[in-house]
Amino acid sequence: MASQARPDLPHSAPAHGVRHAAIIMDGNGRWAKKRLMPRIAGHRAGVEAVRRVARAAREMGLECLTLYAFSSENWKRPASEIADLMGLLRHFIQADLDEFHANGVRLRIIGNYRALEPSLVDMIEKAMARTAGNSGPIIAIALNYGAQDEMVRATQQLAQRVAAGEMTADEIDIDKIEAALDTADLPPLDLLIRTSGEQRLSNFMLWQAAYAELYFTDMLWPDFDAKALAQALDAFKLRDRRFGGL
Ligand code: FPP
Repeated sequence: MASQARPDLPHSAPAHGVRHAAIIMDGNGRWAKKRLMPRIAGHRAGVEAVRRVARAAREMGLECLTLYAFSSENWKRPASEIADLMGLLRHFIQADLDEFHANGVRLRIIGNYRALEPSLVDMIEKAMARTAGNSGPIIAIALNYGAQDEMVRATQQLAQRVAAGEMTADEIDIDKIEAALDTADLPPLDLLIRTSGEQRLSNFMLWQAAYAELYFTDMLWPDFDAKALAQALDAFKLRDRRFGGL
């Protein structure tokens, strides 16, 4: 299963022990409000934080960093803010892909991104294909992502296989469900971080978080940086993970 060492990565695991961290990047709006700036300014500063933290995660030896950029519930926001966020995402993929590729990063998008605007889907698929052969860390961006929607799509996939006679309903087990999720080829989630003081999962990686350590910080996302990530990894090191055992 996914907990085995991957042959394409250094075998010396980093001291913090985190292979996969995920972040609910919250607080862009409040960051902007505190400065009497429009919300888009908070999202722009949030993109800078994404760049800093993606770089830091690579330097700190994480195999995978997953970032919650746009949820399946964010469509409830005003159309202008949705357009701003999609614009920032497009620009981010265009502007940062070369650096990711040069550093061996694999860019992944999770979520129902295929339902997005066709030119964005095309851009995403080309970006993923370009970096797919790299052997460095994975930066996974959750886009039009909701964990419940992910589980619905996985269930539909498995039901279709049963209907096609490829397997029986009894053969559905944890491994088969995991293989049908968007995160199938990502390492198991170790650490789930949420910024801005809110303490909930907001439909993010509900299956994958089954045994993840949760870390909440009051820091607003645009203020998050390498030092803040290092603090979260330090906190993880002190946790006693028992996975249901003693
Ligand atoms: C939450 O802040 C943040 C979001 C809904 C979007 C996160 C998006 C980015 C950081 C920018 C785009 C990302 C990439 C990967 C290029 P909020 O607006 O809910 O803040 P608030 O709760 O303070 O209002």
